[in-house]
Amino acid sequence: MFMTQPDTRQQLRQQVRQQRSALSHSQQQEASQAILDLLQHDPNIANMQHIALYLAFDGEVNLTGLIEWLWQQNKHVYVPLIDPHQDGQMCFHRYQATSPMQTNRFGISEPVFDKSQVTTSQQLDVVLAPLVAFDSQGNRLGMGGGYYDRLLATINGEQPLVIGMAHDCQQINQVPVQAWDQPLKQIITPSKHWRW
Ligand SMILES: Nc1ncnc2c1ncn2[C@@H]1O[C@H](COP(=O)(O)OP(=O)(O)O)[C@@H](O)[C@H]1O
Ligand SMILES: [Mg+2]
Repeated sequence: MFMTQPDTRQQLRQQVRQQRSALSHSQQQEASQAILDLLQHDPNIANMQHIALYLAFDGEVNLTGLIEWLWQQNKHVYVPLIDPHQDGQMCFHRYQATSPMQTNRFGISEPVFDKSQVTTSQQLDVVLAPLVAFDSQGNRLGMGGGYYDRLLATINGEQPLVIGMAHDCQQINQVPVQAWDQPLKQIITPSKHWRW
């Protein structure tokens, strides 16, 4: 989706979320399958043991098939939780087929918090991050909570690798970047693996 006029971040979020919600069930399934194929053939993923991802919401690329495949490989899978003890922070919680789940205040499914199941981001090999919009430079616009910016600000060096996950229709001409926004080093869409 390309804009000719500069637009505010909130308007861009709304426009792209609307486009994403308009994807049909079969377009969603094809997107998930394309991304699963790509990750199943990625030699880096094959070597990773601790993988954080997200439970799709609002038309985000659904990673359920990927999660099943990772579980079959005995990989450790984590999903983000808003940290109940640290304001504005997100933590990563182990996610297994047996994890007790609940729906959080945003309507997103999440595991019931259990401190023993929380990992530090340094222990993760990769974080597959949702996003609302991105551009060809790797700039990311999220839902507006700033959680991934705060996570990325704490990462020195290469680990964990944070990869944005998106439908192709979430690409916009240019994300209006703010000082705190952290660009991504990789983004995966059904048609392209972007690296910067
Ligand atoms: N490293 C950080 N430390 C403190 N606050 C941050 C940090 N990164 C982002 N924020 C805050 O999070 C809020 C939302 O960030 P924004 O970039 O608009 O959301 P998103 O990245 O989810 O689209 C902003 O008010 C911003 O000040
Ligand atoms: Mg941001």
